[in-house]
Amino acid sequence: INKYNIAVLPGDGIGPEVIHETKKVLDAAAQTYVFQLQYHEALIGAIAIDETNDPLPQDTLAKCKASDAVLFGAIGDPKYDNDPSAKIRPEQGLLALRKALGLYANVRPVKAYQKLIDKSPLKESIIQGTDMVIYRELISGIYFGDKSTSADGKSAVDICSYYQEEIECIARLAFKAARQRNNKVTLIDKANVLETSRLWRKVVKTIAMEFPEVELDFIFVDNAAMQLILNPKQFDVILTENMFGDIISDEASVIGGSIGLLPSASVGDESALFEPIHGSYPQAKGLGIANPIASILSGAMMLEHLGEHDAAEAIQDAVLHCINAGVLTSDLDKTSKFITSDIGDYICNHIKYRTGYRYK
Ligand code: IPM
Ligand code: MN
Repeated sequence: INKYNIAVLPGDGIGPEVIHETKKVLDAAAQTYVFQLQYHEALIGAIAIDETNDPLPQDTLAKCKASDAVLFGAIGDPKYDNDPSAKIRPEQGLLALRKALGLYANVRPVKAYQKLIDKSPLKESIIQGTDMVIYRELISGIYFGDKSTSADGKSAVDICSYYQEEIECIARLAFKAARQRNNKVTLIDKANVLETSRLWRKVVKTIAMEFPEVELDFIFVDNAAMQLILNPKQFDVILTENMFGDIISDEASVIGGSIGLLPSASVGDESALFEPIHGSYPQAKGLGIANPIASILSGAMMLEHLGEHDAAEAIQDAVLHCINAGVLTSDLDKTSKFITSDIGDYICNHIKYRTGYRYK
């Protein structure tokens, strides 16, 4: 029987609630598909600052390094957001963790669920059939370049830099993904203005030669922002740098009807971390209204990564049934009487039931 060590970082806001549901679902999958998950909980973000004065305590990093995968909830607290003089911020914990674990590729699948098609503010004809995955570079670019504020506080600098090798690593992953999908990669950049974007184009073109069956397209980020909501079906695999990827993946979440549905995987050569793309949604903390599906689907991506393919598929299937049954939180149905734990319960039951009729 396979045994996996999972570092669990619930973090801030609704993080602990969605992680609670995800563990429930993972346990149902583990029981049904016969493997073991051992959880090792640790602090990160605002809660870690409160308790240890460090957004990424040593103990947390050690647990993550020793694990087979990391399950992450959410990060951020409003008390830091509007304080420009804050020296320590919760988000630094996540950024430092991504860097320390070498998680260079952030993978964000986006698709339109038929049942939820009217939940998106976009027209049905535009979003129907959308199915794309965003490959966002995660540990370089402007997020990690030198930054400073002048002594008089009147100017500030953030440097965006990229090395060829950094682009190569994620580009290869994106092309490999395209081969398993519709053989199309679209590089989003700003090559008409930025040197780093010109480097991306050059390097990605070279990598493309290793994948002759995959079509490569380029699009400027401003146009991409427009195309994403005008004609999202044109995209298969999107490849882009760190900050552009951050921005367009929030934009793309509108297609699915709620950012509460979108999972992500952050992968490196040695480690992998799985997290919903949404934030800590502090206004919802403790109210039972958080949508746990993004986190639960991140859990499914984790199982896929660990090689538990059937269990991962069972979770995805159960989520689909949950959505189709109209068991939705209030982000997707304003009149909903279902709370966060109802979603988790429904999905758990479906996982067990499905196996029930399979093997009886
Ligand atoms: C995300 C988040 C993070 C990011 C924040 C919390 C640092 O927005 O994962 O998209 O900007 O990468
Ligand atoms: Mn973001």
